[in-house]
Order: sequence, then structure tokens, then C-alpha cells
Amino acid sequence: MNQPVTRTTLMLGFSRIKTMALIGLSCGVQLVCSQNLSEDAAKGLEIIKGRTGQCVLCHQIPNNPSPMGNLGPSLQGVAKRMDAATLRARLADERSVNPQTIMPPYFSLQNLSELDPSLEGKTILSREEFESVMSYLLQLN
Ligand code: HEC
Repeated sequence: MNQPVTRTTLMLGFSRIKTMALIGLSCGVQLVCSQNLSEDAAKGLEIIKGRTGQCVLCHQIPNNPSPMGNLGPSLQGVAKRMDAATLRARLADERSVNPQTIMPPYFSLQNLSELDPSLEGKTILSREEFESVMSYLLQLN
């Protein structure tokens, strides 16, 4: 269980420069840029791929050239599989669906343990970041 996470984490860090180079290239040939994301959804995508959300540690997302983990289901078409309210509730706190989940509760202060004192009283995503991630997820349909 620990092994793949560690390896993925390393690969994610390692591939950052490569990813930036790829995105630069792809924009030139209209590959990644042709996703036509709204400004807010594009912000959400950065959170999903980056250190704030780290969603790609566990989830595959469409059109992402960098390595992704598969501890959770692919997020491709997720907005087709559930309505916005369900998606919102699950992103805020997946424990509402599965109390044993390994997915972090991104917008909850309930029942958190072993919390770094500097995180006391803070959600993982700010309200604005949460809404940006929702914008990205809602266009995966
Ligand atoms: C540590 C691993 C992990 C991380 C990080 C993670 N998830 Fe998950 N996620 C899961 C797992 C595992 C499931 C499967 C259901 C469960 O465990 O309850 C899941 C389920 C989901 C679902 C429901 C999908 C479906 O088709 O049922 C969504 C949506 C989702 N995650 C979005 C996200 C987003 C967005 C992020 C980042 C902000 C994220 N997850 C970060 C592990 C993770």
C-alpha cells in the first residue's frame, strides 16, 4: 500500500519540470490548451494537479501528460455519474459516503486527528479553491 504512493509522490515531484515544458509545447500546438477551460476551471485543474489538492496522486484526469496514481477511480466523466450536489458533498468530505475512505476531507473541520497545529481551524482547500476545483470537475461530463 505504501510503496505505490511513495513512488507516485516521487514521480510527481520529478515530473513537474517536464510537465511545465510539455504544457508550454502543447499550448503551442493547441493540444492541452484546446480543452477550452473557463478561467475558474483552469485554476481548479492547477489545484488538482498541484500540491494544494494532490488529487492526481490517487485519481486519473483527462488530458494530463504527467504520471497519475490509481488508488481512486478515474475522474473522467465524473459529472455524468453524479449530480453537482453529490459531487460537492463528496469533495467536501468523502467520509460522508465511505467512513473508511483514504481520500482527505477537503472542506471539513469535523473529526480530524493528528492535525499539524498550524492547520487548526483551517480546511484543506479555501472556499475559493474549493469552488475552482468544482468548476473543473463539473465540466468532466
Ligand atoms: C489519498 C488518495 C486520494 C486523494 C488525494 C483524493 N482522492 Fe478522491 N477518492 C479516493 C478514493 C479511494 C475514492 C473512492 C471512493 C472512496 O474511497 O470513498 C475517491 C473518490 C472520489 C470521487 C468520487 C468518484 C466516483 O466516481 O465515485 C471524487 C469526485 C473524487 N474522489 C475527487 C477528488 C478530488 C477532486 C481530489 C483532490 C482535491 C481527490 N479526490 C483526492 C482517493 C483520493
